[in-house]
Amino acid sequence: MSTIDTCWLLALIAFVGRGGATADAGARAVVAEAGTGEDAALPVVVVTPDPDGAVQASIVGTEATYGSPAPPEAGPAGQMLRGAEIARDEVSDITAILLWPGRMTWVGPETVTSLIETHGVEPGSMLRPGWRGETGWPVLLPMSALDHLRAVSPERMPPDVIEDIAGYVPTRVVDVGGGTGRLLTAVLEQAPASTGVLFELPHVIADAGDAASDRLRLVAGDFLADPLPAAEAYILMEVLHDWSDDDATRILTAVRRAAAPGARLIIVEVLVPDSPGPDHSKVLDIMMLAVTGGRERTRGQYETLLTETGFELRRVMPTHSSYFIVEATAV
Ligand SMILES: C[S@@+](CC[C@H](N)C(=O)[O-])C[C@H]1O[C@@H](n2cnc3c(N)ncnc32)[C@H](O)[C@@H]1O
Repeated sequence: MSTIDTCWLLALIAFVGRGGATADAGARAVVAEAGTGEDAALPVVVVTPDPDGAVQASIVGTEATYGSPAPPEAGPAGQMLRGAEIARDEVSDITAILLWPGRMTWVGPETVTSLIETHGVEPGSMLRPGWRGETGWPVLLPMSALDHLRAVSPERMPPDVIEDIAGYVPTRVVDVGGGTGRLLTAVLEQAPASTGVLFELPHVIADAGDAASDRLRLVAGDFLADPLPAAEAYILMEVLHDWSDDDATRILTAVRRAAAPGARLIIVEVLVPDSPGPDHSKVLDIMMLAVTGGRERTRGQYETLLTETGFELRRVMPTHSSYFIVEATAV
């Protein structure tokens, strides 16, 4: 079990099965994985029905705390909230919780704590590992998100609860090759809780001073040579089309290296349709080849590049302009 940076104080909220026997096994597994006694890295709160007392019996002598669930009509969001409130009573200055559906044991809390250490996720931000394009677990949720959790409908299933909250939680966005920061400035205006990093070549950063603010940081560097800042979201607008497939692969690999699993990648580009016939994108394709050695690409070509570099394509959205948004998740 790795130790946690002192700026984090976490509790693990485990949701285990509905039946006594399953809950017992699930509770034991979670408590065992999270560690107990002096070496315990995480206080554990187990939230599950316990009609025959089997769960509470199974955690006697451990550091875990039993929490009786909220009424069924509170739904999954209500159970998560109940766990967070119990955790806060147990550990008063807690800053984040790990939500762990007890039977999903494919990633241990040590994986998450080492992710936090490696990527330096900012306190107050959310970490949700991706797994085959779906929300993975455990999810790191800042306590500051509890008000949003309260507002989630009881009908929503756990992955949807996380999606809903993610829309509100502060996110760090890096605009890679973002020019003088016009797009990133507009994005941060729409996401007042978020912060941004403009990553650009030094001579462009020298001209981007007007964009800098307490929420928008300028970082000079070369995405083919320098490490990119860690973040929960990355933008690449009209960057990949400047480059050959080999170089586009290098850029995407650099983003993937910096991105936490589950981080979003937003590519904004013109897409070449699969169908034959004239299209504006095909003119641009020839221009890119002639001017930069790059190319415009089809959806399928982006998907191949993304898959080969550790991303999963989530969706492709048209916009009111000729650009498309290609959204992917780091896996
Ligand atoms: C076509 S512009 C797109 C600018 C911006 N994303 C936009 O859509 O307005 C490509 C940008 O990539 C930046 N760029 C090119 N090579 C780079 C490198 N090696 N590292 C970082 N940025 C680079 C350029 O400075 C330029 O601003």
